Amino acid sequence: MSVFNDAIQNFLSPISDLLDDESISEIMINGPFEIYIESKGKIIRTDNRFKDNDNLMAAMRAIAQAVGKKFDEDDPRLDAHLPDGSRLAAVISPISTNGTVVSIRKFFKEKIILNDLIEWGALSKDAARFLDICIYLGKNMLVSGGTGSGKTTLLNVLASRISDNQRIIIIEDTKEMDLDDQHVVHLITRKEDPAQNIKAVGTKELLHSAMRLRPDRIIVGEVRGAEALDLVNAMNTGHDGSMGTVHANNPPEACLRLETLCLQAKTSIPANSLKLMISNAVNLIVQTKRFSDGKRRVSHISELLGVNDNGSYRLKDIFKWVQKSKDPETGDLVGELVACQYLPTFFDQIKVNRLPFPSSKFEAPDWVKKIKKAA
Ligand SMILES: Nc1ncnc2c1ncn2[C@@H]1O[C@H](COP(=O)(O)OP(=O)(O)OP(=O)(O)O)[C@@H](O)[C@H]1O
Ligand SMILES: [Mg+2]
Repeated sequence: MSVFNDAIQNFLSPISDLLDDESISEIMINGPFEIYIESKGKIIRTDNRFKDNDNLMAAMRAIAQAVGKKFDEDDPRLDAHLPDGSRLAAVISPISTNGTVVSIRKFFKEKIILNDLIEWGALSKDAARFLDICIYLGKNMLVSGGTGSGKTTLLNVLASRISDNQRIIIIEDTKEMDLDDQHVVHLITRKEDPAQNIKAVGTKELLHSAMRLRPDRIIVGEVRGAEALDLVNAMNTGHDGSMGTVHANNPPEACLRLETLCLQAKTSIPANSLKLMISNAVNLIVQTKRFSDGKRRVSHISELLGVNDNGSYRLKDIFKWVQKSKDPETGDLVGELVACQYLPTFFDQIKVNRLPFPSSKFEAPDWVKKIKKAA
């Protein structure tokens, strides 16, 4: 492996400064001469360049070889991890009309913890404490958000708060989650490779295995297919405190997305019953968002209460990010994730378990009430 590491480092030398720079979270290569980075939420073009497309392709082929994959015109897509854990995705023509296009998602070297998210303003202290309590109480949660909005990072932080005496089974396509000192079983899906007689093992199959491996909590890194129905069933059959992420722009869309994915299982469950199953299974939707100032924040923590007569999901926001103003110099949005004057239905459990979160924490601050009145 170290030979490959050296080779890869060598091939990637035109962008080595970007790979080493801790403040850069993403490197986007649109052909050999056009390289962008994302730093502190902002996208900036750099002066870095590869010598030519052959050079860039040589780097990609070395990476593909190191992870035992092919990357050529017959197989024009590559998903891989670099030796430092960064996630790489690449496509070449004819799939891409820009030549060789690569995106490298870097992760913080230091593990992100709940306090970091509070410090960065992604979560308020109270909202973080509330989520911690929900993990303790075994609430089933969906982390919802757009691409690159911070879903996996938040899921990892939430999972890291699960008590050590619980057996956690994590299912992912590529290993992104990383929990230390916890009782974790990690299952990774496998793609089909007929040339090597390798059969595919999908998230759905792994969820079946997970159910037989005595899980206390099941975590699905990304729910994006028919396995959604199995996850909903698991949540409804006593696997409290299970979690997953879905791609959606707001909490109502997250419920609809989960429903659409459940229907991919070609189930004969009537639509109304499926909606009820989903609303019984999922307790909370935690919405992540990359805002216009480039910052990633939790925008909503909502409780799923049931289904309305018209078939829409009944949701109540417990916390919501409200904008106060905008910094005229930096363009950064100024606001807070505030309580919404709504007591969750499971508040009794918070009280009975003597968890330090009084009902006053759910009251909306005066400045929000004023904004609402004015509107
Ligand atoms: N609150 C945050 N503040 C700053 N950076 C963050 C925050 N959350 C995540 N990041 C960084 O943003 C990038 C995207 O995060 P992450 O992989 O968690 O997003 P995602 O929504 O799971 O993406 P995808 O849709 O590709 O699965 C990573 O580099 C991560 O380290
Ligand atoms: Mg993710």
